[in-house]
Amino acid sequence: MPGRAPRDVILAMLRARRDADAPAPRPARPPATLRVMRTLVADHPLIAHKLTVLRDASTRTPVFRSLTDELVTLLAYEATRHVRVEPVSVRTPVAPAQGVKLARPVPLVIPVLRAGIGMLDGMARLLPKADVGFVGLARDERTLVAATYATRLPADLSGRDAFVLDPMLATGGTLETVFRLLAERGAASLTAICLLAAPEGIARVHAAFGDDYPLPVTVVTAGLDERLDERGYIVPGLGDAGDRLYGDL
Ligand code: URA
Repeated sequence: MPGRAPRDVILAMLRARRDADAPAPRPARPPATLRVMRTLVADHPLIAHKLTVLRDASTRTPVFRSLTDELVTLLAYEATRHVRVEPVSVRTPVAPAQGVKLARPVPLVIPVLRAGIGMLDGMARLLPKADVGFVGLARDERTLVAATYATRLPADLSGRDAFVLDPMLATGGTLETVFRLLAERGAASLTAICLLAAPEGIARVHAAFGDDYPLPVTVVTAGLDERLDERGYIVPGLGDAGDRLYGDL
């Protein structure tokens, strides 16, 4: 059609406009995405807003649960950026179109019991076709070492993207254990979605699954906090995520 710009020209124009609109880098502020290993700290005003309400000690369980759910869906959008898809053709009411669908075997989502359960619905909203496995780990409050008390995972994870849901990446012990379990069963990629991370946890995961690790390993979080305290809590954090989701049992 005369006068109509081809798709590539329009895409190039949009790209140029996006680059021109991009704010100049401001060194005083943390970068939009911080890549340490493959760590993505989501930088978005709505994520920051929801996280702030989560942190607030006066936020009660019902609001905490629904905000967790919303935050996980937003983080899942980034976490699934490289999920495996395969080409598919459909017919629109007008013409045939090429698209993609989730590749088989479908991804596996693994909430870490108990607090990770509070993240499952938010993840399933984005990946409703994924299978769900479970791993239960409890942390010894004195030694801070996590011990596995339950696993319900497929024996063979070959070719599967694995998404671990655990709200708090604190010492990194839990995530290291779960990632190892999944890698031993042949997972194709390992991704963790965490509401908050401590630098100590990121460093431990990086040491275990760093640059030479054969699988793609990614951590996506809404915030990278200052440090752990002597009880292994993230500072400033949001307290005990399980207690805030389900009550102090
Ligand atoms: N687990 C939590 O629930 N909160 C922390 O701050 C650290 C570990």
